[in-house]
Amino acid sequence: MSEQILEFDDVTKVYPDGTVAIEEINFSVEEGTTTVFVGPSGCGKTTTLKLVNRLIDCSDGTIRFEGQAIADIDKIDLRRSIGYVIQEIGLFDHMTVGENVGVVPRLLEWDDERIRSRVDELLNLMDLPAEQYRDQYPRNLSGGQRQRVGVARALAADPDVMLMDEPFGALDPITREKLQDEFLELQNQIDKTILFVTHDIDEALKMGDRIAIYNNGGIVQYDTPKEILTNPANEFVENFLGSDRLIKELKFMKVGDVMETDVDVAGLSLTELNDSEHEFARNGEGYLTVDRDNTTHSALTKLYQGNAESVPVTNGDEVVGVITETNLKRTLSS
Ligand SMILES: Nc1ncnc2c1ncn2[C@@H]1O[C@H](COP(=O)(O)OP(=O)(O)OP(=O)(O)O)[C@@H](O)[C@H]1O
Ligand SMILES: [Mg+2]
Repeated sequence: MSEQILEFDDVTKVYPDGTVAIEEINFSVEEGTTTVFVGPSGCGKTTTLKLVNRLIDCSDGTIRFEGQAIADIDKIDLRRSIGYVIQEIGLFDHMTVGENVGVVPRLLEWDDERIRSRVDELLNLMDLPAEQYRDQYPRNLSGGQRQRVGVARALAADPDVMLMDEPFGALDPITREKLQDEFLELQNQIDKTILFVTHDIDEALKMGDRIAIYNNGGIVQYDTPKEILTNPANEFVENFLGSDRLIKELKFMKVGDVMETDVDVAGLSLTELNDSEHEFARNGEGYLTVDRDNTTHSALTKLYQGNAESVPVTNGDEVVGVITETNLKRTLSS
């Protein structure tokens, strides 16, 4: 299928010292999606990314980019289509922020004016106003700001694919969450194919359209976040998800995915609902409701707040179903 921008076909990498970093790995990546590689240290995540832009070559198997074996693509051409945010950022300390972001365009011999305007555009996009940050040195920036410069640098030549190796690693949880949210927002605007490495399962569940869970150089599960949460392939995945898997699941699942729709209130407007008599919990303004796009975690909170057995679910001004504690329990036990 042509929409698979990247395909790994039985790919093995053995380093010169004999270390088997990954063994017979298979997966494919759909254009415009984010695939997250997650797993313990040393399981082969960075190796996978380096194979994609041919910083290292496969020992066996084939990687295809847009249907063509990458071994047959000129390295420079390949890297022009692929941006790379390396682990631990790797900014050049002796260069200004602006020079760092402009590294790839300079290699590509863009003219100065075009480089300058691209650098400013990206710094502004990454919430680092160009006027203020362009001429600073990386050492004067916070960890979170340096990470953003690393992302801006990888985006500079507008690559189709972004390889991001723990781009938000080594940050405090609050900054990390902020950058994750900004990046999800950014991904909506730029619509790239992203390969993203992390060791944090929560980050994987949040960022990924698909997740590859690695262990010891192999992929133990390659699935959507929902499938991984609801159907972990084996004990390793279950342990990796952690003992709070059920809470994660509640935070991840949407009310609309588990609600009851075959109910008499479905189809009413909110005003009609509030004007009618029901057993639902009320507050001063009317019945307590949840939106179908809310998480099941927030639905559970509403159920407890209202000490209610069920809560109507809305889509805008329309009632589309109800959610009950039984719905939630059924979801968690399936
Ligand atoms: N240049 C190299 N020569 C020999 N062995 C290597 C080399 N680079 C990596 N390895 C080994 O290959 C395996 C996979 O390494 P890789 O860097 O891909 O892991 P990783 O999943 O990215 O780990 P981390 O989460 O710590 O970044 C490890 O056992 C590592 O020691
Ligand atoms: Mg790594």
